[in-house]
Amino acid sequence: MTKTIQELFDLSGQTAIVTGAAMGIGKGIALRLAEAGANVVVSDINLESAQKTVKEMTTMGYKAKAIQSDVSKVADATRAVQETLDTFGDLHILVNNAGIYPFTTITEISEAIWDKTLSINLKGMAFFTQAAARAMIAKGHRGKIVNIASVDGFHPTGNLISYDASKGGVVMLTKALAKDLASKGINVNAIAPGAVQTPGASSGLSGMSEEQIAEVTKAFLATIPMGRQGTPDDIGRVALFLASEASDYITGTVIVADGGYLVG
Ligand SMILES: NC(=O)c1ccc[n+]([C@@H]2O[C@H](COP(=O)([O-])OP(=O)(O)OC[C@H]3O[C@@H](n4cnc5c(N)ncnc54)[C@H](O)[C@@H]3O)[C@@H](O)[C@H]2O)c1
Repeated sequence: MTKTIQELFDLSGQTAIVTGAAMGIGKGIALRLAEAGANVVVSDINLESAQKTVKEMTTMGYKAKAIQSDVSKVADATRAVQETLDTFGDLHILVNNAGIYPFTTITEISEAIWDKTLSINLKGMAFFTQAAARAMIAKGHRGKIVNIASVDGFHPTGNLISYDASKGGVVMLTKALAKDLASKGINVNAIAPGAVQTPGASSGLSGMSEEQIAEVTKAFLATIPMGRQGTPDDIGRVALFLASEASDYITGTVIVADGGYLVG
C-alpha cells in the first residue's frame, strides 16, 4: 500500500472544470471536488447562476471561478479551457455534466430540438473533452474525465426520444474516448444517474397541480427499489471517486447510480 485513503481522495493542487455546474447535479459534483481540495471552474451557459454558486463556494472556503460557456459551441470549450489555464495554471479533471432533457415523442419532435439535444449532450461532451485532453497532454500529466450519462442510455424512460439517443451515445463515446486516451494517461468514465432531484428535473413537473405531482411522484418512486430519488450529492460522491486516484485502474466504464431502478 503506497497511499492512505486520505491521500487517494486529496485533490489539493488539482484543477477541475465541471460543465453545467451552476445548479443541480453539476453543483453537487463541484462541491465535492472543491471539498477534496481542487480548484473548481463552474462552467455554465448561465453566468449569473454560475457566479451565485461560486460565491457560495468561496464563502465555504473553496477555490472556485465562474466561466460562461455553451458546451454546444466548440469555440466556447476551447476558450473555457484556456481561461482555466490562465486562472489556475493547469487542468487535471473535466466533468462533462451539462445536458438538457426535452420531453418529446418521435411524432412530435422538431429538427431543432433534435439538433439542440444532440449538440449539447453529445457533441459538447466530445469537444470539451478534446480541448481538455489537449491541455492535459500539453502539460505532460495524467487526467480524469467524467461524463454524466443517464439510466436512459440503457433503458428508455419514455417521451425522451432525442435525450435517450444522446445518452446512448454518451455511453459509447465514453468507451471510445477511454480507448483513445488511455495511452496518454487520461481515464474516461461515466456515471449513469437515475432520477435525481434538480431544478431541471422539477421543471418537467411545471404546469401540473399539486395532486398530479403527488400522483406522478408516487408512481415514479414505485419504480425505484430503494424508494427514493437521488440527490446531487449522491452523484457528487461517485464523481469524486472517478476523479480521484482511488479509481486509477478504471477506464471506459459506466457506474450506474440509480437506487436500483435498472434492476427494479
Ligand atoms: N436530474 C436527473 O434526474 C438526471 C438523471 C440522469 C441524468 N441526468 C443528467 O445530469 C446532467 C445534469 O442534469 P440536472 O438535472 O442537474 O440539470 P439542471 O437542468 O438542473 O442543470 C443543468 C445545468 O446545465 C446548464 N446548461 C444547460 N445547457 C447548457 C449548455 N448548452 N452549456 C453549458 N451549460 C448548460 C444549465 O444552465 C444548468 O445550470 C445532465 O446531463 C442530465 O442529462 C440528470
